Amino acid sequence: MRIILLGAPGSGKGTQAERLADTTGMTHLSSGDLFRQAEKEGTELGKLAKSYMEKGLLVPDDVVIKMVLERIAGKEVGVILDGFPRTLEQAESLDEALGKDGVDKAIHIEVSQDELLKRLSGRWICRQCQKPYHLVTSPPKMTGRCDSCSGDLYQRPDDTMETAMKRLEVYFKQTAPLVDYYRKKGKLVQIEGEKTIEAVSKDLLAKLHWRRDGHTR
Ligand code: AP5
Repeated sequence: MRIILLGAPGSGKGTQAERLADTTGMTHLSSGDLFRQAEKEGTELGKLAKSYMEKGLLVPDDVVIKMVLERIAGKEVGVILDGFPRTLEQAESLDEALGKDGVDKAIHIEVSQDELLKRLSGRWICRQCQKPYHLVTSPPKMTGRCDSCSGDLYQRPDDTMETAMKRLEVYFKQTAPLVDYYRKKGKLVQIEGEKTIEAVSKDLLAKLHWRRDGHTR
């Protein structure tokens, strides 16, 4: 099973991917997390990605495609792709790599622009395991500490208002057209993302015909 999560910055892709992975045992692969990890390690890939991420722009297709396809090659368990593909070229490369059936489902989480900006400005992330929190809607039990691994929480530099606005502009121009791409293929699952985290998870599992214990109905 290969699932992709589509949605604007702040729509809840990371949050829902994490929960879905916990429930189903599938692997959660986030292209943004891979870039942030590479940046932390000071690799050439990390330096290159940083130069785009800090401006709110997409990292060039050839770099992202190579990185993600290498990660999913030969994976036995299911994969949840969070933040990839983000352009038509990435979507076509993924289809080609996966063979004739391509991805199983493309989940599009829809959230209004005002809500997206509120979410990005209140987000804190675990430096260690990347789990996202929100100061108002999903605060950690202990201020500044991750509930799961006790790692330090930090704010992403690309969550400033100016860069967040740029990321939204880039999303609507370059990524939103993928919603139609997957609709035409009959793979699109539309999710109303402006509900509580729990309610969105519930809808998602229902639409995928999965139960909370990870089995299909
Ligand atoms: P990436 O890391 O993928 O960021 P993004 O798409 O901008 O998405 P976010 O991580 O900001 O948001 P999310 O949808 O995961 O929301 P979250 O669950 O955290 O990419 C970063 C950069 O890397 C890109 O700008 C680009 O430069 C580069 N990049 C990555 N992939 C690329 C690709 N394929 N091609 C080219 N470049 C690429 O939730 C947000 C907040 O809201 C959290 O605080 C959360 O707690 C809260 N929240 C979540 N759900 C709810 C809810 N239902 N109600 C209330 N609050 C909620």
